[in-house]
Amino acid sequence: MDKAAIACLYTLLCLVRRGPGGVFALAMKHLLSLETMPREDMERVLREATHFKRDRTTHAKPLAGQTWAMIFSKSSTRTRVSFEVGIHELGGRPLFLNANDIQLGRGEPIKDTARVLGRMVHGTVIRTYGQRDVEEFARFSGIPTVNALTDEEHPCQILTDIFTYEELRGSIAGRVVTFVGDGACNVANSWLFAAARLGFELRLAAPRNYQPPADLVKRAGGRVVVTEDCRAAAAGADVLYTDVWVSMGKEAEQAQRLADLFGYQINADLVKLAKPDALVMHCLPAYRGKEIDEATFEAHAATIFTQAENRLHTQKAILNWLVS
Ligand code: CP
Ligand code: NVA
Repeated sequence: MDKAAIACLYTLLCLVRRGPGGVFALAMKHLLSLETMPREDMERVLREATHFKRDRTTHAKPLAGQTWAMIFSKSSTRTRVSFEVGIHELGGRPLFLNANDIQLGRGEPIKDTARVLGRMVHGTVIRTYGQRDVEEFARFSGIPTVNALTDEEHPCQILTDIFTYEELRGSIAGRVVTFVGDGACNVANSWLFAAARLGFELRLAAPRNYQPPADLVKRAGGRVVVTEDCRAAAAGADVLYTDVWVSMGKEAEQAQRLADLFGYQINADLVKLAKPDALVMHCLPAYRGKEIDEATFEAHAATIFTQAENRLHTQKAILNWLVS
């Protein structure tokens, strides 16, 4: 065999990863970022989430016999519970690992943790700080890896939000989604990447220091408006969306953030500017009196808690897509 053929074979072997139990698989799938998720895969997840919502129990069990690790370095209610229940309902066993209870918390490298888990479990769901850590885990573990929130992205949340919009109002293509608040946070970034893929307009209303960098907006493509003017951003919107002003990991900046983001709130005055049937959405947890006021939150609680419930159905569709 000549050198070129050996190099070609080596490259092919590098693409082939060994899964638990010695099963070989080509083209391992991960959900790390909406920037890299193809549109047709997004559409499949959104479509199948409908089926998983309609039938909680009698559907196929694509995770039968599998164990999925869930490594969490940050707090979680919705993501943790929906993944634990979802993995169980798909026939698998969730294994929750608080990052501080495993050696990762004492400094064992991500790539070593990944290589150990890759030989024992069938997939991993990770919530952590750096996006690079989730990407490194995926690279070294050789098993499907899901980003359950990093400082940069929250892809499962935004797929769920789009599913919820479409369930309640029909296709999101051509609609206007207005995000008000910390426009540079993980949730806003994932909205940014989804906009170009699914053909809706995204308006980000945020103070200058809380806007995404121009090169990121350019890289994402699509119809995106970034402004400091909440009222202009809300005019005629189909969705008013917000997230906390102080994301996990930003607690040291709390006082500054509360001062800077004051006024970037969804309230009755802002809702009046949007379309009459606009949805008010929140990924939760919500801080009343800050990013949303109490009356507006409660007036739209049915939508917001449907969003929360839909984490379960959408993530079951994500898991099913990853293993099929
Ligand atoms: N929205 C969301 O991800 O909630 P948790 O932080 O409770 O998981
Ligand atoms: N931006 C928030 C989202 C919480 C679900 C955070 O990172 O804390």
